[in-house]
Amino acid sequence: IGTVVYQNSTEASKSVAKEIADLIKVKQAQKQPCILGLATGSSPKGLYAELVRLHKEEGLSFNNVISFNLDEYYPMEPDSINSYVRFMKEQLFNHVDILPENYHIPDGTLTKEAISDFCNQYEARIEALGGIDLQILGIGGNGHIGFNESGSLQNSKTRLVALDHITRVAASNDFSGLNNTPRTAITLGVKKIMEAKRVILMAWGEGKSNIIRTSVEGTITNLVPASFLQEHNNATFVLDKAAASKLT
Ligand code: F6R
Repeated sequence: IGTVVYQNSTEASKSVAKEIADLIKVKQAQKQPCILGLATGSSPKGLYAELVRLHKEEGLSFNNVISFNLDEYYPMEPDSINSYVRFMKEQLFNHVDILPENYHIPDGTLTKEAISDFCNQYEARIEALGGIDLQILGIGGNGHIGFNESGSLQNSKTRLVALDHITRVAASNDFSGLNNTPRTAITLGVKKIMEAKRVILMAWGEGKSNIIRTSVEGTITNLVPASFLQEHNNATFVLDKAAASKLT
């Protein structure tokens, strides 16, 4: 696992955006699609803002980008204020030239019975494209990646999961209270994340410093799913000074 520490999250986000832009351009030159795994939450907002800037001011095209988001709450309507569909449109998709048929987000409107087929298809689509070229991750205070909570196995598949209490508490402000906060979500499994050719996990702020240390320096354990990334051959934790402050 590599760690790279920046003065602040803005600088860090710009450098991640540059790596993504360079990859998109390499793939364009090769006439290949660029397969991105994308995250939501507060951590990647600066990254998406910089990608939008690169599109608007520097002509970066997303016409060869095919993306797969990590997760979506379940149940969730796509036009709901807290949906990850809405988040991605507002932060990125509506402001760049990605084709609507080329972005994928787990479907929060499925019937329970339809979820497992959907999850299998989601993985099959990724596989048919040759896997994820670059996966963006945030990290939960409990070490979750995607919504693979504590206890998720390293070979876990894309599936419906129960959200941890701590995850629901973290989200409860957005949902105006714990009672309105979803109890379940659909998440890409750890296996597909680990199969990505390149993984970049972004974390900012003092509040993430303990879990960053545990994930990078602690034993590899399914109690802390981010610790699995120690076994990935091309994973980097991109951190600001505060998030890195407990690393030895
Ligand atoms: C979001 C996701 C989650 C978040 C994590 C950190 O798609 O998969 O794992 O990355 O909960 O969230 P923030 O960035 O809001 O601290």
